[in-house]
Amino acid sequence: MKKNLAVVILAAGKSTRMKSETPKVLHPLCGRPMLEYVLDLVKTLRPKKTIVVLGYKQQEVRKCLGTGVTAVVQKSLCGTADAVKTALPALKGFKGTVLVLYGDTPLLQKETVSKLLKYHVENNVDATLLTGNLKKPAGYGRILRDKLANVCAIVEEKDADDFEKAIKEVNTGIICFNNDKLAAALKQVRPDNRKKEYYLTDTINIMYKSGCLVDAVKLIDINEALGINTRAELSKANSVMCSRINERYMLDGVSIVDPASTFIAWGTKIGLDTTIYPFTVIENDVNIGKHCAVGPFCHLREGTRLADDTLIGNFIEITRSSIGPKTIAKHFSYIGDTHVGKLANIGAGTVVANFDGINKHRTKISDGALIGSDTILVAPVSVGKNATTGAGSVVTKNVPAKTIVAGVPARFLRKK
Ligand code: UD1
Ligand code: CA
Repeated sequence: MKKNLAVVILAAGKSTRMKSETPKVLHPLCGRPMLEYVLDLVKTLRPKKTIVVLGYKQQEVRKCLGTGVTAVVQKSLCGTADAVKTALPALKGFKGTVLVLYGDTPLLQKETVSKLLKYHVENNVDATLLTGNLKKPAGYGRILRDKLANVCAIVEEKDADDFEKAIKEVNTGIICFNNDKLAAALKQVRPDNRKKEYYLTDTINIMYKSGCLVDAVKLIDINEALGINTRAELSKANSVMCSRINERYMLDGVSIVDPASTFIAWGTKIGLDTTIYPFTVIENDVNIGKHCAVGPFCHLREGTRLADDTLIGNFIEITRSSIGPKTIAKHFSYIGDTHVGKLANIGAGTVVANFDGINKHRTKISDGALIGSDTILVAPVSVGKNATTGAGSVVTKNVPAKTIVAGVPARFLRKK
């Protein structure tokens, strides 16, 4: 498809309805700011220009923009039309399609946007809306159509009468514009509505009245339209994103016994034939090898590396640690700031005491070590190759290879 495309992402809004000090677009879905999903999608479209409109706490939002993006700042947050207007100077000299996306609509998929763009370009439309039919359309702008069923306006929920509120077709917020027509229409938008804001949605009726061609493409998967305004919507979007992520792992050869109770952060690496059991939470920056078993009830936190063939059982928390191949930790343990070698066995109830109240310290558990049940390893400490700690040991000194220690504090018992 031949196109001259620019994308404007609106991300200036406050988190009023989220009731949050964090800008809305930085709230995470599966461990990643929602805005980053939108930015990813835009990259796949290869636009000539990407402009992100920032406002509320713009310094914070700027950090997640990455390269190839122009940031502009909306001075007063007086509506989506004003936000798009702020982006116009950065589009000077550009001729073509302007795609407007909202930073709070992260479930949108690239296939949908490509379809919208294709329709817009091939039919030479001046403004093409992405709309969807919602059973519960509350909160969204409603699509008004004329007697010939052509789109003629969008009415916001707050300004809608009862008849309009009953309309199920909503504005997703995603609109393709012909650049020149958009600029002309924006000039005519007035804040004469309940919120006293400049609505981008008003450009539709303005364009319709001036004889422009306005049209709409309908969404198939209505989840994609979900605009996140509240924490309840955030959690709904999170579960949609989680299930998409889980599905991708399953397609790639990972077994997830119960996707509904498995939460895997975006970007986790998981090898072939690994099985994730129910009630498992995997946070950012975790790599899991092949043929591993994880869970049930397992919490893998930042910086966890599991080599191939590891068995991590129930009630295990691991953070900033690497676990070597064929190592087993099957029952309730905390492993933090630790390097564990291969073929080690971490007994039930093992705790790495990595924090002395001020600093965190590292622990090393070498290849073939056998950590007895209920051992506490007081970091910094190391357990040598093939060494054993007795049940209930509190290990405060390094354990030499092939020795057995036991007691509180753990003392040398004998060589192996
Ligand atoms: C908007 C649409 C509504 C649509 C819904 C879809 C308007 C007037 N309404 O409503 O028709 O059904 O999205 O989710 O456009 N923003 C700015 N600057 C501003 C105001 C907002 O950049 O001055 C940004 C926000 O950060 C957000 C996006 O624009 O990413 C949408 O704003 P929001 O206030 O969430 O609009 P809705 O009320 O959801
Ligand atoms: Ca919104």
